[in-house]
Amino acid sequence: MILVTGGAGYIGSHICVQLLQAGHEVLVLDNFSNSKPEALRRVECIAGKKIHLLEGDIRDSTILDRALSHPVRAVIHLAGLKAVGESVNKPVDYYSVNVTGTLNLIQAMQRHQVYQLVFSSSATVYGTPETVPIKEDTPLHPESPYGRSKWMAEQILHDLSLSVANWKIVVLRYFNPVGAHPSGLIGEDPSGVPNNLMPYISQVASGKRPLLQIYGNDYPTPDGTGIRDYIHVEDLAAGHLAALTALKHSNELLTINLGTGHGHSVMEVLNAYESACGSKLSYQISARRPGDVAFYWADPSQATKILGWTARKDLQSMCNDSWRWQKLNPNGFC
Ligand code: NAD
Ligand code: UFG
Repeated sequence: MILVTGGAGYIGSHICVQLLQAGHEVLVLDNFSNSKPEALRRVECIAGKKIHLLEGDIRDSTILDRALSHPVRAVIHLAGLKAVGESVNKPVDYYSVNVTGTLNLIQAMQRHQVYQLVFSSSATVYGTPETVPIKEDTPLHPESPYGRSKWMAEQILHDLSLSVANWKIVVLRYFNPVGAHPSGLIGEDPSGVPNNLMPYISQVASGKRPLLQIYGNDYPTPDGTGIRDYIHVEDLAAGHLAALTALKHSNELLTINLGTGHGHSVMEVLNAYESACGSKLSYQISARRPGDVAFYWADPSQATKILGWTARKDLQSMCNDSWRWQKLNPNGFC
């Protein structure tokens, strides 16, 4: 059985589908602070299999003990808070969930002698990189409480792996996850105004928002708009299954980028989304967003070498799947 913390969320739900389809028993622990139980019902519907569910907070040792009293072989730890801007205003919440929550999980895993862990980290730990593509040994300069909370959790896991030989840990640094399951049944369901590009464009396409603000067209990029490494959430999920296999054979902590190795500009994403939804979308150029980096993308060669994993889906399929999800579920999971 695989314990997936935060399994009802955007990325977790896509991982659960693939785990079930690969024949794993799945136990989700989630407090539904940023997700809905309906997501898991749909996961079951896609996979045609049942999920075991515990509702609770990763900072609650009692609920972790209850989760780990199941025959859990490995944990995929996704539960966390993830909004850069919000983290500046609520740093304590971010350190509490992302750092204390992770510590609490590790302690519970030690009590139950479960030593295999896949951890969700983020490219945000690199901050503004000096060179691209970004390799895993690029110096880390997280620039927000969110980024620092992920960096701290990574440090804790690193020290843990050095202290006790039996821990097998893979830290995955995600680039920009987008897209949705091709069924249109699960996808990203942001609460309030979306912070990120793809969910915002989706809401412009569905008529929920009048226009996209493009944050700057004077960056040193071919069309002047910011460039990121967008990765289809299905590819990202597949990376977790590859990590679960790899950690069985590894004796050291592995830190691996999950990205495509290609960057796309805001304009390119907008154009691909217009092709997906079949209409022109309104936009306006506005000032740069404070803290934004001009461009970056991953060097994903370690993922290929160590996990045997490569991202397969292109920008057009990310936009097509995102639009299908948006069109079929204009109000998300409701
Ligand atoms: P999400 O918010 O959709 O999913 C996180 C899940 O964790 C939610 O279901 C939420 O209810 C749950 N959760 C939050 N706090 C909890 C707590 N204290 N106890 C139990 N459950 C809790 O986010 P996501 O996009 O699926 O991200 C998953 C992980 O990946 C996060 O750790 C995030 O930091 C990381 N990540 C996400 C992105 C991205 O752009 N989506 C990029 C890099 C890294
Ligand atoms: N952008 C717009 N308009 C918008 C939203 C975004 O022009 O309404 C632009 C941004 O300026 C940037 C690009 O679109 O150039 C991507 O922005 P996102 O907010 O979608 O993504 P970020 O790269 O800023 O950050 C995201 C997550 C971070 C995570 C990082 C890498 O928010 O938490 O990806 O995984 F760390």
